[in-house]
Amino acid sequence: MPQIALHSSAQEAAQVVARHISDLIRTRSAMGKHLVLGLATGSTPLPLYAELVRLHREEGLSFKKVITFNLDEYEGLDGSQPQSYRYYMNEHLFNRIDIPLPQTHIPDGKSANLEQTCAAYEAAIQQAGGLDLQILGIGSTGHIGFNEPPSARDSRTRRVHLDAKTRQDNAIFFKQPGDVPHGAITMGVATILEAREIALLALGPNKAAIIKRALTEKPHALCPATWLQEHPACTFHLDAASSSLV
Ligand code: PGA
Repeated sequence: MPQIALHSSAQEAAQVVARHISDLIRTRSAMGKHLVLGLATGSTPLPLYAELVRLHREEGLSFKKVITFNLDEYEGLDGSQPQSYRYYMNEHLFNRIDIPLPQTHIPDGKSANLEQTCAAYEAAIQQAGGLDLQILGIGSTGHIGFNEPPSARDSRTRRVHLDAKTRQDNAIFFKQPGDVPHGAITMGVATILEAREIALLALGPNKAAIIKRALTEKPHALCPATWLQEHPACTFHLDAASSSLV
């Protein structure tokens, strides 16, 4: 079962997870190795990225030996479009730290050959040595990445159809609700569960109901976050509001 880390605020959760990432970077660097970090987008990780930027600027934390793989990208958007996750990551993290951009990976939402793009993404993760730590949020549908219900335990990086509820939740990032893409490319459940460690962030009252489901329902495809119960090193970073029903 996931461990639960209770925090007094989103800021505190961000500080704890950022400190952990910083420790991992330094430990791996001391061994002459890169850290392979899985990253997430959405509102929840923004304080984490702000804290990583602060650690870089004020404490000299270097990301030159970090390789990143993002969970997902909208279909049909390219990195020049502000709603794309490539744009989000460049804006909030990559352009503010010293990571070489070629070491950052996000699925290509504009790919003409999605099947090949997805297979190549899986291969690139393997070639980097696998994910050392995957950062996750959780959607109100129980999605992790964009693994909407139903998502099988053995699913891999693939094209998915976004749930109507997810499109509604994410409409705040678009000019009009109808602009939210219908499809996305996402790492699969199996891809995520192969990370050596997972840190899920869920803060505030809107996450309480889905956190309860994720922790109390037996693992099943209709609530993909329940698969995390099967991971040996997964921590849910919660606050009083998001953990209130557990
Ligand atoms: P949020 O999204 O951080 O914007 O709530 C989480 C998710 O959909 O995984």
